[in-house]
Amino acid sequence: MTEPGKRSVHSLLQKKRNGERIVCLTAYDCPLARIEQEAGIDLILVGDSINMAVLGDETTLGATMDLMIAHTRAVRRGAPETLVVGDMPFGSYQPSEALAIENAMRFLVEGGADAVKLEGGSGRALERVEAILDSGIPVMGHIGLLPQSLRKAGGYRVVGSSQRDRLMAEGRALADAGAFAVVVESVEEALAREITDSIEVPTIGIGAGRYTDGQVLVVNDVLGMSGDFAPRFVRKYAELGSLAAGAVNAYVRDVREGSFPAREHCYKPVDRKDAETK
Ligand code: KIV
Repeated sequence: MTEPGKRSVHSLLQKKRNGERIVCLTAYDCPLARIEQEAGIDLILVGDSINMAVLGDETTLGATMDLMIAHTRAVRRGAPETLVVGDMPFGSYQPSEALAIENAMRFLVEGGADAVKLEGGSGRALERVEAILDSGIPVMGHIGLLPQSLRKAGGYRVVGSSQRDRLMAEGRALADAGAFAVVVESVEEALAREITDSIEVPTIGIGAGRYTDGQVLVVNDVLGMSGDFAPRFVRKYAELGSLAAGAVNAYVRDVREGSFPAREHCYKPVDRKDAETK
């Protein structure tokens, strides 16, 4: 049974008050979610980055609600005791307040998530955050580089001091609206620090330097499964891509040369009374 409070967003607020750092990673499937839960991660984000990291697309824009729900459910199965946040994909909350609430609810009811995240801290995005919160669903904000606005921004760019006032206001607005945390993506370290110090709710940084309350990374980048893609802010903790390539190459070789399957992989005769099935 889940320990009371373990999956509560309030546990993160408490961590900020206690000065404890918050650890978050993305996960998209059950086996990795299980590993992350066993490592004691604070928060798992089922990011729309799945569209790039797993489906191989160039942007996050093609992630759909059905895709996100299926993977959120898989993550929940692997990490039943961990706070899981579903990332609302492009088009799932922008068109109307009613659609935003309906889709946020799907994350909780069908996906088993504890909360949702959406991009933006002003205008329509802020209104959607307020509407979703008003229906009783915890929301994590996201400011700085917004991958879903890539087409408008004209590319992935680090957000610097020229955007200071806007970003500070967005962080403040999300905290005032009741967001339980705010992702700060690709923001100069000093500015990310200033935002962190100015709001009561935790900031979770990605490419935002050392002074946010927590850190999040895309798990495929951490595990070395993203090919040559290596943003400056990522630290690779494994080379699973090379390991997997080695294993698949060995399998191809063994089947071709006839050394797999070997005798030990074959069933014994099945017409014996005590026939084995495994
Ligand atoms: O989709 C995602 O993985 C994200 C993180 C990079 C914060 O939004």
